[in-house]
Amino acid sequence: CLWIRNLAHKKRLPGPFAWPLVGNAMQLGQMPHITFSRLAKKYGNVYQIRLGCNDIVVLNGYTAIRQALIQHSKEFAGRPNFISFQIISGGKSMTFSNYSEQWKAHRRIAQSTLRAFSSANSQTKKAFEQHIVAEAMEMVQNFLRLSADRCYFNPAHEFKVAAANVICALCFGKRYGHDDPEFRALLGRVDKFGETVGAGSLVDVMPWLQSFPNPVRSVYQNFKTINKEFFAYVKDKVVQHRDTYDPDVTRDMSDAIISVIEHGKNSMLSKEFVEGTVTDLIGAGQDTVSTIMQWMLLLLVKYPAMQTKLQEQIDKVVGRERLPSMEDKINLVYLDAFIYETMRYTSFVPVTIPHSTTTDVTIEGFHIPKDTVVFINQWSVNHDPQKWQDPHIFNPSRFLEENGALNKDLTNSVMIFSTGKRRCIGDQIAKTEIFLFLAILLHQCTFKSNPSQTLTMDCSYGLVLKPVKFTVTAELRGKLLGLVS
Ligand code: HEM
Repeated sequence: CLWIRNLAHKKRLPGPFAWPLVGNAMQLGQMPHITFSRLAKKYGNVYQIRLGCNDIVVLNGYTAIRQALIQHSKEFAGRPNFISFQIISGGKSMTFSNYSEQWKAHRRIAQSTLRAFSSANSQTKKAFEQHIVAEAMEMVQNFLRLSADRCYFNPAHEFKVAAANVICALCFGKRYGHDDPEFRALLGRVDKFGETVGAGSLVDVMPWLQSFPNPVRSVYQNFKTINKEFFAYVKDKVVQHRDTYDPDVTRDMSDAIISVIEHGKNSMLSKEFVEGTVTDLIGAGQDTVSTIMQWMLLLLVKYPAMQTKLQEQIDKVVGRERLPSMEDKINLVYLDAFIYETMRYTSFVPVTIPHSTTTDVTIEGFHIPKDTVVFINQWSVNHDPQKWQDPHIFNPSRFLEENGALNKDLTNSVMIFSTGKRRCIGDQIAKTEIFLFLAILLHQCTFKSNPSQTLTMDCSYGLVLKPVKFTVTAELRGKLLGLVS
C-alpha cells in the first residue's frame, strides 16, 4: 500500500531519475543551490529529488516559495526529524524542532525576549546600538594593529568574535573580548556547524554512512563534538544565572528567559529549554552576521571605487567628528543598497534550514504528502533573471531609484531571512549590526586587497556560504574616534 502511494506520488511530481541507494546524491555537486536552480529550468520550480532514502521536494523562485511559505504557511512550517537536528542545543532547540504547540510557545518566548532587549523602546534600542558601536571600535583597533607595517590579515576571526560578543552581551551581559583564547577556540570550531545542517548534507539521509570510515562520518562526529562543547559552554553560563537569579532584577536575556520559562504562569516548557533557547540564539546570531561581514569586506576590496563612493557619502552625511549612528541610516542610501546587494548577490544562506510538511498539501497543482522534506532555494529567488537584470553582476545601484531613493519594492524582493512561520527572528538585530559595523569600519578605515592574492568569489557550501580565506590591510582615515577602553 505504501509502495503504491509512493509510486503515485512520484508520478505526480517531476524530477530527475534517482539511483538506487544514493538517489540523486551524486548529482548535487559542490554547490547544491546552483544544481537546484539548473534542475528547475528542466523540471519547473516545484520538483522532487531523492537523497538516500528520502524523497525531497525542492522549491525554487519567488512565486512557488511564497505560495508555499505564505499561502500554506502552516503546512510548510515543519522541520524533518533528522538525527543531526536532535542533538542541537541539548535536544531542546526551537530552530530545529518540528511544528507543534510547544514550538509555537518556544518561538514566541525567543522572539519577544530578543525584541525586549534590542528594540522594545528607545532606551533598549540605544543600549543595543552602544554594544555594537563598542564592538565595531574594538574591531577597528584590532584591524589597524593587525595591519601595522602594511601586514595583511584574514578578517574572519575578528568578525566572528565581534558578532558573538554582541549576542553574548545580550544573553549574558558580558562580552569576551578578542583575546580570550577559550572563547576564540570555541568560535573557531563552531564554524563547522553549517556543514551538517545545510540542505543536501548527507548525514541524515544516508544513515548507513555512519557504519564505516568516510568523510561524511567524520564531519558528523565533529558535529556531535562541537554541539556538545558549545551547549556545555552556554549551559554553564545559564546555570550561573539560575543560581543568582533575582526576580526583581532582570540583568540580561538569560534572566528574562529563566523568568518566563521557569517562573512564568502556564509555561509549557521545562527548565532545560532555557539553555536550549540561549544556545539557539547565540548560534544563529553569530555565524550569519560574521559571514556577511566577510563577504562585504571582500567586495569592498574587489570594487575600490564603490568603497570610495561609500566613504564619500558617509563623510558627507556624518562628517569626520563623530561616528555613524542608526539615525544616519535614512541618509546613507548607497550603504543600504550595498548591504542589500551583498545579500542578493552572495545569497550566503542559499537554502533555508530544511523544512517539512505538517499535513498533506497541494502546491502549483502538485500533491505533497505529510512529513515530506522540503528544500527552499533562496538563491534562485535572488538570481531570477525575470526579476533581476544581469543577476550575476554585483551592482548596488540596482536598488536606487532615479531620484536616488532606495527602491523598497526591490529590497523587499531579496530573500535571505526566509519568509512565513519559520522566518528568521533575528532579522532586525542582524540588520542593525550589519549597518553599524559596516558604516563604522568605512568611516574609520580604508581596506585594500593583498596584491599577492587573486581575489575570488569562491566559497564553501553549507547552511552558510563562506568565502575562501582572503587577506586585506586596513589604513586609518584621519583620526581614530570614540576609543573604547
Ligand atoms: C532562522 C537567516 C541572523 C535567529 C533563520 C533562517 C534563515 C535565517 C534563512 C531559516 C528560516 C527557515 O528555515 O525558513 C539569517 C540571516 C542572518 C540571521 C541571513 C544574518 C544576516 C540571525 C540572528 C538571530 C537569528 C542575529 C538571533 C539573534 C534565528 C532563529 C531562527 C532563524 C532563532 C529559527 C527560526 C525558526 O525555526 O522558527 N535565519 N539569520 N538569526 N534565525 Fe536567523
